[in-house]
Amino acid sequence: MAQRTLARYLTEEQRNKGVITGDLKLLIEVVSRACQAISIAIGKGGLGGVLGEAGSDNIQGEAQKKLDVLSNDILLDANEWGGHLAAMASEEMDLPHLVPHRFPKGEYLLTFDPLDGSSNIDVNVSIGTIFSVLKCPEGADLSTPEAAERAFLQPGTAQVAAGYAVYGPTTLLVLTVGDGVASFTLDREQGQFLLTQENMQIPVETKEFSINMANQRFWEAPVQRYISEMQAGKEGPLGKDYNMRWVGSMVADVHRIMTRGGIFLYPIDSKLRAQGGKLRLMYEANPMAMLIEQAGGTATTGRQRILDIAPEKLHQRVPVILGSKNEVDRITRYHAA
Ligand code: AHG
Ligand code: MN
Ligand code: MN
Repeated sequence: MAQRTLARYLTEEQRNKGVITGDLKLLIEVVSRACQAISIAIGKGGLGGVLGEAGSDNIQGEAQKKLDVLSNDILLDANEWGGHLAAMASEEMDLPHLVPHRFPKGEYLLTFDPLDGSSNIDVNVSIGTIFSVLKCPEGADLSTPEAAERAFLQPGTAQVAAGYAVYGPTTLLVLTVGDGVASFTLDREQGQFLLTQENMQIPVETKEFSINMANQRFWEAPVQRYISEMQAGKEGPLGKDYNMRWVGSMVADVHRIMTRGGIFLYPIDSKLRAQGGKLRLMYEANPMAMLIEQAGGTATTGRQRILDIAPEKLHQRVPVILGSKNEVDRITRYHAA
């Protein structure tokens, strides 16, 4: 049987199922090519001079790595001329990037975390790109980047597509257009993504959790309770032994959960209280929540479904708990108790 490329998968979603428009197909193909370019740059590593610090800070006060900046530029350059987008917003830019006047404007908005897992770049551990697509509201004011911010402030339920690329031993693109989750592997010789898994489903039970234990003393009571119950193992109230994994790249931790189940937590804690959480709603939490739900999992802050949050600002941060349904439901109950 012929190989199913990403382009073919998208054409079928458009032609046979009517799930996506031609412009959304083009948009996703362009994003996938940008991810290929990022993958190539990452693959060169020290030989390509792409490792190390950029010498600048982003809007959230985080030191940017060269690859944060390079990946952001690759995504902007790839997407601004195609006519499918109205504007883009990124974790690495203070304000939205408008499509320059010399190019036609389209009906979609794209947000991205160009390089997720920055702290893992220089140590050769898996990193990724996360993206989300929204429709631009009719009549939205795109006259200035400041005014354009408003158009992006839509809940995650409004996303029309979301995905991530993982740059690991292989480069994968994991995608949803609201019709389940499919995974594509980059064939480096052919220079294209080929479908390797369709209809990904997260097991409802798990024996694996993912949290930064160094923050334990700052956690709230429901998280303390849940993690200590898991640590108590077979002898404890949950009656089974758990294992722990924390890569420190959300894409890699979420991809493991997409593949074999588990629960990922970056909860609110007393240290993060003022900023609302660690992970960013528009670039990390919402796209991952859409993918997780599309694969039968659950994503919550502990108190609210992530996809229902009405964003107040572009760079908003939120608590994130996601993964295997039964485990996420348990900790949600602990929050309600
Ligand atoms: P980014 O590199 O885009 O800033 O994101 C890093 C995020 C996420 O990928 C990961 O889950 C988390 O930060 C790791 O945080 P700690 O360093 O606190 O473990
Ligand atoms: Mn990130
Ligand atoms: Mn990032």
